Amino acid sequence: MAKYTFPLLLSLLVRLSVVSAACTSSGGGVINPDDSIDCIGPGSGCQGATISGCTVVRCVGSTACQNSIISNVESVICRDGATACGNAKISNVSGEVTCGPVGNVNCFRLELTNAPKISCLGSGQCFDMRANNVQVLDCLGQNSCKRATIHNAGVLNCVGTTSCHQSTVNNAAVMNCAGQTACHSTFGSLAPEINCSAQHACHYFALPQASCLNCQSSDSCSFVAIDGPFQVSIAAGSHGTCPKTSTVQGDPHFQTWNGKWYDYMGACDLILLDAPQFEDGFPLLVVIRTTTRYDYSYVESAAIKIGDDILEVASFGEHFLNGVDGVDMVHEDMFLGPFPVHYKQVDIRTHTFDISLGGGEKITLKSYKDLVSVKLDKADAQRFLGSQGMLGDFKTGQTMSRDGISIVTDPDLLATEWQVHPEDDGMVFQTARAPQYPQSCQLPRQSKTTKRRRLGELIVSEDDARNACAGANNMDGCVHDVMATGDLELASVVW
Ligand SMILES: *[C@@H]1O[C@H](CO)[C@@H](O)[C@H](O)[C@H]1NC(C)=O
Ligand SMILES: *[C@@H]1O[C@H](CO)[C@@H](O)[C@H](O)[C@H]1NC(C)=O
Repeated sequence: MAKYTFPLLLSLLVRLSVVSAACTSSGGGVINPDDSIDCIGPGSGCQGATISGCTVVRCVGSTACQNSIISNVESVICRDGATACGNAKISNVSGEVTCGPVGNVNCFRLELTNAPKISCLGSGQCFDMRANNVQVLDCLGQNSCKRATIHNAGVLNCVGTTSCHQSTVNNAAVMNCAGQTACHSTFGSLAPEINCSAQHACHYFALPQASCLNCQSSDSCSFVAIDGPFQVSIAAGSHGTCPKTSTVQGDPHFQTWNGKWYDYMGACDLILLDAPQFEDGFPLLVVIRTTTRYDYSYVESAAIKIGDDILEVASFGEHFLNGVDGVDMVHEDMFLGPFPVHYKQVDIRTHTFDISLGGGEKITLKSYKDLVSVKLDKADAQRFLGSQGMLGDFKTGQTMSRDGISIVTDPDLLATEWQVHPEDDGMVFQTARAPQYPQSCQLPRQSKTTKRRRLGELIVSEDDARNACAGANNMDGCVHDVMATGDLELASVVW
C-alpha cells in the first residue's frame, strides 16, 4: 500500500507547543497548583475568556468555555454540558482535545488549529467544527463532526452513524468512513486514500481531486459524484490497497494514474511508462509509437519490455516476441520475464495480449484494426511506485518532467519530455521510424485547437456516436474517436 507523506505530518511530528508560560485566564476559572484550570458550569466565568499556558483545561457543564480563546495548552476537556466549548477557538495544543462523551454538542462550532488529536466521543460532538492541522480526528459518536470543515488532517476516522455527514475535507492523508452513512454527502479533495466500509458510508460523496476511494461494496459508494480525476475501486472485502488503472487508447487519449484524461496529437516514439522497481531484476518499460493520419494521430504500435524480454504489438495484431515475427502465441506458453502472456484473437479485427501480473493485475495490449491501445489494470503500488512517463507519476497522477521536478500539463511539452531518446533509453521497437530524437515529434496538419471537420463526420452523426458510446468510460474521447474514424464498432471494442 502506498504511504503518503504530507508536509503537514512532518510538521506535526515536531511537538506543537511548548507550555512554558504559567496558566493564565483573562476571565474566571479556578487555576490549580499543577497549572490546570477548572471552568465548571455556566457560572464559571470562563465564557469569552482568553486562557493560555495551562496544562489541562477542564470545561465542564453547559456553556462553561463558550466563546473562549484557548491556546498553548497540553489538553482540553469539553464535557457534561450543552456547548461546553461551543464557538471556542482552541489552538496549539500539545496533547488531545476531548469532546464528550457526556452532554450534547460540547464542541459545537469549535475552531481547532494545530493539535495532534481531537476525540469527538458522543452524539453531536464537534458538530460544525472547523479543524486545521489536526493529525488524528476521531468522530465516534452519532452525528459527530457533522458539517465540519477540515483542512490538513492526517487520519480522519468517521465511525459514528452520520458522523462527517455533509462535511468538507481538504487534504486528509487517510479518511476512514466506517459508520453508516458516515461520509454521506461529504465533499472531499486531495484525500489520496478514502476507505468506505459501511452501508452508504460514501453515498453521494463528491471528490473532485481525491485520488482513490476504496469501497468495500457497491452499497458503500452508491451515487459517488464523478467530477474530476480520481479512482474508485469497489472490491468487497479488500481494504486500503486502492489499485489504479491507466491507459492510452484511440486517437490517442491518455488516462493518467489519477484518472485524468488528456489527448496528444503528435507522431513520435514516447515513453508511456518507465517503472524501474517493477519486479526484482525485471524493470518495466512501455513505449508507444504514434502516427498521424489526416488531422489526428493514433498509436500504431506499442512495445513492452520486462527485463530483457520484449513484446511488440502493431496494427492488425502483428506481433514480435524478442524480435521474432508472428510467434505462435496460441499453442506455446509465452512469458515476459516471469509473467505469462495470454494471446487472444477476439474477432478478425481485434487481438489482445494480456500480461498477467497476478491477482487480476495485468497489462493489456490490444489492437483493433490499426489502432493499438495499452491498459494497466489494478496496478499495485509496490511495483509502480516511482514510475514515470506519459501516464504521469504513479503516486500523484501528475504529469511530470523527466527529472521529476516540474509538473508539465501541456501535452506537446510533455511529449517533448518523454520522446524516446534511443541513446539513453534504448531502442525498444524493432525498427526506427522517423521522427527519432533529436528530431522533434511531428504535429498533425491542423492544430488540435481548431474546430476539426473530420472525414468520419460525413459517415457517423454525433447522436449515433453518443448512442454507441453509452457504456464508455470517457464519453467525449469515445465520441471523438468514433466520429474521427467513422467506425461505430470502435465504441464497444476500444472504449
Ligand atoms: C500557535 O503556534 C503558531 C506556530 O508556532 C504561532 O504562529 C501562533 O501564533 C500560535 N497561536 C497562538 C494563539 O498562540
Ligand atoms: C481502510 O479500512 C480498513 C478497514 O477498516 C483498515 O483495515 C485499513 O487499515 C484502512 N486503511 C487505512 C489506510 O487506514
